[in-house]
Amino acid sequence: MAPTQRILVWDIPTRVFHWSLAVSFATSWLTSESERLAAIHVTSGYILLGLIAFRLAWGFIGSRYARFSEFVRGPAAVIDYAKSLLAGRPRHFIGHNPAGAVAIVLLLVLGLATGATGYAMYNELGGEWLEEVHEACANAMLAVVVIHVLGVIASSLLHKENLVRAMITGRKDGTADVGIQRGNGFFALLLAGAVAAFGWSSLQDAAKAAPAKSGHEKKHEGKKHEGKKHDD
Ligand code: HEM
Repeated sequence: MAPTQRILVWDIPTRVFHWSLAVSFATSWLTSESERLAAIHVTSGYILLGLIAFRLAWGFIGSRYARFSEFVRGPAAVIDYAKSLLAGRPRHFIGHNPAGAVAIVLLLVLGLATGATGYAMYNELGGEWLEEVHEACANAMLAVVVIHVLGVIASSLLHKENLVRAMITGRKDGTADVGIQRGNGFFALLLAGAVAAFGWSSLQDAAKAAPAKSGHEKKHEGKKHEGKKHDD
């Protein structure tokens, strides 16, 4: 058997995507109740949407373990994996395991749905129901995030493999033949640059557009989303 060494598994765009997604989700969540922080909420929501659009493309053109063909599997594979878990001998995967992949697909779908309904709401394309759907999607996404993080911790313990560190460094222990060859730093730089440029210009625009708020207006701050229309 070939010797085990540190091999590259996650390319740089996948890692930049992951941590940017986690930050944009947390930012959107934490600012969702505040009228004063609405510009930040909307900006981080757009960034989340853009990141997912990037990830959908990267799932087809990215490196081996980033590709959907490598980790999106049918129900039979998920059941097999669950059985190996229950038997106390979970199968090891260098990339995403089939159960983790279900959470990942759900996060991408719910992220798209939350972002799209947020966009529609912000542009007044629907009624009250849109706000309900937006909140329901965001809540469902939070639930999946919690399951995702618990799954990552459980899987790290079961396999005695630090998955969080792997999502930071891109590296795991494995044989050289299963590692990826290149980090694809150029695409990561493009992604990080696009996120930074969009975030910066969007917040600058919001700062320019915001009229100096009077004490009367401030009293009305803090009600979720409603005030966006008042600010226009
Ligand atoms: C502190 C919080 C988080 C930690 C520690 C964490 C950790 C991880 C780890 C270790 C993986 C790789 C799993 C594997 O080895 O199969 C992963 C993948 C992933 N996580 Fe997280 N995660 C966190 C938060 C989030 C959040 C908030 C989201 C979504 C809003 C998210 C979405 C994803 C997605 C989509 C993937 C797949 C990555 C890809 O292939 O592009 N994670 N996460």
